[in-house]
Amino acid sequence: MTQPLTPQSDSSKCIRVCQNRACRKQGAAKVLAAFEARLIPGVTVSGCGCLGQCGNGPIVLVLPERIWYRGVRPHEVPLLVEQHQHSLKE
Ligand code: FES
Repeated sequence: MTQPLTPQSDSSKCIRVCQNRACRKQGAAKVLAAFEARLIPGVTVSGCGCLGQCGNGPIVLVLPERIWYRGVRPHEVPLLVEQHQHSLKE
């Protein structure tokens, strides 16, 4: 897992996992399934279309912080959720 690309602001609480072609080729479906298996109350987890970071996937966008992760692997999802759990529950 790589470090976030750019933090910004947003109002909704959700985790988006790109499910477009390039990210799916790199295992995005398994990453999405890993997030869905670790549901956080009040937080939406969803697949989404291309996030414009093709080739660095699977791409994950955490809102409201708008923090981007690239090259996420399914086994890294628990750590990612743990890192964001506090802010996502607020
Ligand atoms: S295909 Fe995932 S960011 Fe473009």
